[in-house]
Amino acid sequence: MADVKLSTQPYKGTRDFYPGDMRIQKWIFDQMRAVVEGYAYEPYDGPMLEPFELYAAKSGEELVNQQLYWMMDRGERKLAVRPEMTPTLARMVAGKIQELPRPIRWYSTPNLWRYERPQRGRLREHWQLNVDVLGGDPLLADAEILSVALSIMKRFQGEHLVQVRVNNRRLMDHFFMGLGLSAEVALKVTKALDARAKIGEEKYATWLAELGITASQREQMEGFFQSSFEQIELKFACEGTRELRALFSLLEESGFSKNQVVFDAQVLRGLDYYTGTVFEMYDTSPENNRAMFGGGRYDNLVGLFGKEKLPGVGFGMGDVTLRNFLETHGLLPSLGGGVDVLVALPKSEWRVHSETIAHQLRVAGMKVMTPLSIEGFGPQLKIASRHGARYAVLFGDAEWAEKKLIIKDLAAGVQEVVAAADLPAWFASRKVTNP
Ligand code: HAM
Repeated sequence: MADVKLSTQPYKGTRDFYPGDMRIQKWIFDQMRAVVEGYAYEPYDGPMLEPFELYAAKSGEELVNQQLYWMMDRGERKLAVRPEMTPTLARMVAGKIQELPRPIRWYSTPNLWRYERPQRGRLREHWQLNVDVLGGDPLLADAEILSVALSIMKRFQGEHLVQVRVNNRRLMDHFFMGLGLSAEVALKVTKALDARAKIGEEKYATWLAELGITASQREQMEGFFQSSFEQIELKFACEGTRELRALFSLLEESGFSKNQVVFDAQVLRGLDYYTGTVFEMYDTSPENNRAMFGGGRYDNLVGLFGKEKLPGVGFGMGDVTLRNFLETHGLLPSLGGGVDVLVALPKSEWRVHSETIAHQLRVAGMKVMTPLSIEGFGPQLKIASRHGARYAVLFGDAEWAEKKLIIKDLAAGVQEVVAAADLPAWFASRKVTNP
């Protein structure tokens, strides 16, 4: 066995984040956090393992039967690795429902696990920004949630490249009921429609036939999907269309264009708990055909845990699709390395001098490395460059005697002598910090 080498590959559908990837990941989530905290959302988190039943209750058959990672613990409890955050959120809110000030505006950035066939935009582990409001006026909350999502895209300078497609589950219930479908069959048809793009027309047709959908019902469905919102509003006036109309007005008032937020009767969402507004956001160019975020209104999730109901609305935005989008459109900035400055170590007796200078710069917020071996300046500078440092601070006997330091710009290859006392100010005036 001694010669068998272990694989360096991560488990299928998961990613290793080397420091270069981690820098991008951190930058992406820092941008998202800045936007959602600007809207006064507060961070929360929960455990990665939850009781299996938490998802069995409302997340939907596909997620539970095909995608959950689950296990029995040593005490014979059936646990699931969280595939989404919304059930945890509902559980946590229900647990303190009397104490929490409303409306509850919370966000989280969990890693989630789903057993999927890995492909572009779909992996087995992804990170997801979750933003939710519970309580408040439902329409105002729906509009705010969509504003937050679009503001995030604006922060990434990509808001003109995306489209939010909106529908309403109440409208769909009304339509399916008019079609003569029972609630149970309607839910199954919703699943088929949600999977349609993924499975193709042939399998979709077979699925509908198996559910007993007649040719005439199918024709009416196609007619419905091809209708404009105005036509649907006339023909299927109901609470769902009224909610949609009011939501579109609010968003228009807030300055979102008619192209940015559109009605799409084919957006249904695969999760069972949605009860009102549902939405997904897509890249308008075809390279990234997976939704970048999805969400909607859920009126009955918190009620699963106790007497009190507290409706909510929210979305999940995944890092995989978002990063594909940012890369496709050249929207990722160059993030530099993890080091701003090397403070060189001329000789071993001067270690404390180097450390003192480095400490001053660290206190000023810079990322500063000092050598871990005593070598000539040449090798020290090479190491600094390989780690992406922009500057090196050097000193020899002559400089130290005069309380001076040499600052070398490693990219430009030029150097300058400054008074030791002026060093932090010199860097501060040049804003030398990698993001
Ligand atoms: P979801 O549509 O299942 O919704 O996921 C939201 C987003 O997470 C997707 O649009 C996609 O960007 C990303 N995502 C989902 N699965 C994967 C995967 N296997 N690989 C990569 N990215 C993925 C939910 O999870 C809801 N709980 C969102 C929500 C929050 N609804 C209300 N509040």
